[in-house]
Amino acid sequence: MNGIHEHILEILYSEEDLAAMCQRIAREIERDYAGKEVLLIAVLKGSFVFMADLARQLNIPCSVEFMAVSSYGNGMSTSGEVCVKKDLDCQIAGRDIIIVEDILDSGVTLSYLKKLLTARGPASIRIATLLDKPERRKTDIYADYVGTVIPNKFIVGYGLDYAEQYRNLPYIGVLKPEYYS
Ligand code: PRP
Repeated sequence: MNGIHEHILEILYSEEDLAAMCQRIAREIERDYAGKEVLLIAVLKGSFVFMADLARQLNIPCSVEFMAVSSYGNGMSTSGEVCVKKDLDCQIAGRDIIIVEDILDSGVTLSYLKKLLTARGPASIRIATLLDKPERRKTDIYADYVGTVIPNKFIVGYGLDYAEQYRNLPYIGVLKPEYYS
């Protein structure tokens, strides 16, 4: 069978590696939010897998909400523009919120989102990102919880796509050059 696993040149983070990152971040969040209730806000679409795994590791009261924003088209680099495609369904004033992202790259998306949500008056706002690519940063933004810092390679899987494909790979890998143009 010629499946999507055969499109992958190299696995960078296995399912076990990713599970360990989720567990570590969950323990950090539990420690920091002891006695509080946290609202996790995932930024679609890329973060849907990380959100599901992180939320299931958390042993504190939490709710989940979703937003969709876009800073890229189908390409591989940021356009610098962000638009909100789906806003929150709830109020966040006075609540402790954590924005959950799959990747912090140029920082354009999270800088915009953090400013937008801060203006709504949450009690606190933090960022959890599975992957951090500081080499590519164009804005002054950092994450409070990071799974791992990654090299500047084009990666797919575990929510991350190329042209909307490969989000369903259970690991993170590098795509073979013949599958992207
Ligand atoms: C990706 C990722 C982040 C953003 C990070 O989303 O999920 O939201 O890019 O990049 P930045 O730091 O350069 O702004 P994308 O816009 O590709 O949408 P997707 O999550 O639907 O794949």
